[in-house]
Amino acid sequence: MEFFVKSGSPEKQKTGCLIVGVFESRKLSAQAQHIDEISDGYISAIVRRGDMEGKFGQTLLLHNVPHTSCERVLLVGCGKEREFDGSQYKKLSSKTIKFLHETGTTDAISCLPLLNVKGQDLYWKVRFAVEAANDSLYQFEELKSKKSETRRPLRKITLFVDSRADLPEGEKAILHAQAISLGQSLTKDLANLPGNICNPSYLAKRAEELAKHYSAMKTTILDESELEDMGAGAFVSVSQGSDQPGKLICMEYMAGGKGEKPVVFVGKGITFDTGGISIKPSASMDEMKFDMGGAASVFGVMQAIAEMNLPVNVVGVVAAAENMPSGRATRPGDVVTSLSGQTIEILNTDAEGRLVLCDALTYIERYDPDIVIDIATLTGAVIIALGHEASGMMSNHNGLANEIESASEVTNDRVWRLPIWEEYHQQLKSPVADFTNLGGRAAGSITAACFLAKFTKKYRWAHLDIAGTAWNSGAKKGATGRPVPLLSQIVLNRIK
Ligand code: BES
Ligand code: MN
Ligand code: ZN
Repeated sequence: MEFFVKSGSPEKQKTGCLIVGVFESRKLSAQAQHIDEISDGYISAIVRRGDMEGKFGQTLLLHNVPHTSCERVLLVGCGKEREFDGSQYKKLSSKTIKFLHETGTTDAISCLPLLNVKGQDLYWKVRFAVEAANDSLYQFEELKSKKSETRRPLRKITLFVDSRADLPEGEKAILHAQAISLGQSLTKDLANLPGNICNPSYLAKRAEELAKHYSAMKTTILDESELEDMGAGAFVSVSQGSDQPGKLICMEYMAGGKGEKPVVFVGKGITFDTGGISIKPSASMDEMKFDMGGAASVFGVMQAIAEMNLPVNVVGVVAAAENMPSGRATRPGDVVTSLSGQTIEILNTDAEGRLVLCDALTYIERYDPDIVIDIATLTGAVIIALGHEASGMMSNHNGLANEIESASEVTNDRVWRLPIWEEYHQQLKSPVADFTNLGGRAAGSITAACFLAKFTKKYRWAHLDIAGTAWNSGAKKGATGRPVPLLSQIVLNRIK
């Protein structure tokens, strides 16, 4: 989809559809009012008849509105004017785009960025109109033998802004949004691919392709034997049960200052999680193809940053492995030595994410990071705690936690912080090793983060548990592309 910004008189534009808002109850927005005036009260007459109350999400498509140059006018209900905020604006943007996609129009002009959105400026309104549209039009059809076709698909959307002076900010917002959407689609594509296609070697290949495409990006792959020789015993204990060799994938994007310490993202990339010998029940086990959602989001944010050409140093590391039961698989009770030298008693082979991550988190010390954020579909418990709205966030540094929270507010890609107090570490005590990989039923997401915290003492670190936010189950089963918007915003906020 192509997006443009424009200022001037929307009603004078030749377009397939002009989108204007109506508030509750029956209150025309300034642009709707303007169309009403030039059409001699056409809009207000319709509204008076009771066909458009202005209720949030209501739509009414009008044809041949007098004295305008557009084929259609779409009235969109915006709800109560005083309550119109960012999250509603995004929902409306998706809704209208989906609606238009079903009509015969190939191009449209939206006046929604002209509305007042609580606490948001023009850049924000343009950026999130574009991101919301792209997000809602995403389809995963790579594996369908026949692709769906829309007869006359929507191709071009022009977003109206108040004045010519707003155009540069609007154009910047479109560039950023298109780059972030591109990254987010990559994340969705990778996560949606099944385990028989998207295995660690496949991810490594995709990372090499990124490096080919972006000259500031360099990809290095460590294979399983190199990891073993290095002493990454925790990582290998997960990967060894699978016929697919594990990989540590490092993507370096170094377009920032020479001495500038990098932001490092680390993603859990379990391309399929059977649970290993502590095997999972079979109901919904197919969804464990999404267990590389953290890794997929690292790919997505790396592509978004490279596409925006940001002058920053960012490293993305993906711990890619498959968790399988086999004659070579780790047994419950086995003790392994991690890359950090700390020993781990593996009480449950289904708590594998923390095992691959802990060695990746030690490995990345060599980048002398400014901040480190790991992203992982780590625990079912985070869904019990926060549902599907917010990702769980744990951190050893309040400043970094605040940074993440402010990026989360801008993008509406929500996080909620949970504590990792010393008391919780008690649950990881082991009689034979330094600690176990299992914290018990109570506070499962927190003890998982406490395990990781034992490997991240040397830098400022935050952990995002995205088990509840990375994908949807049920009828709309598929990857969400979260938290790519959040991660991209964290990087954007650092350069503004
Ligand atoms: N990948 C799962 C977490 C998960 C489970 C995400 C269900 C989404 C839905 C992870 O590897 C796992 O199996 N975690 C265990 C940890 C437990 C054994 C301590 C879990 O959450 O049950
Ligand atoms: Mn598991
Ligand atoms: Zn897992």
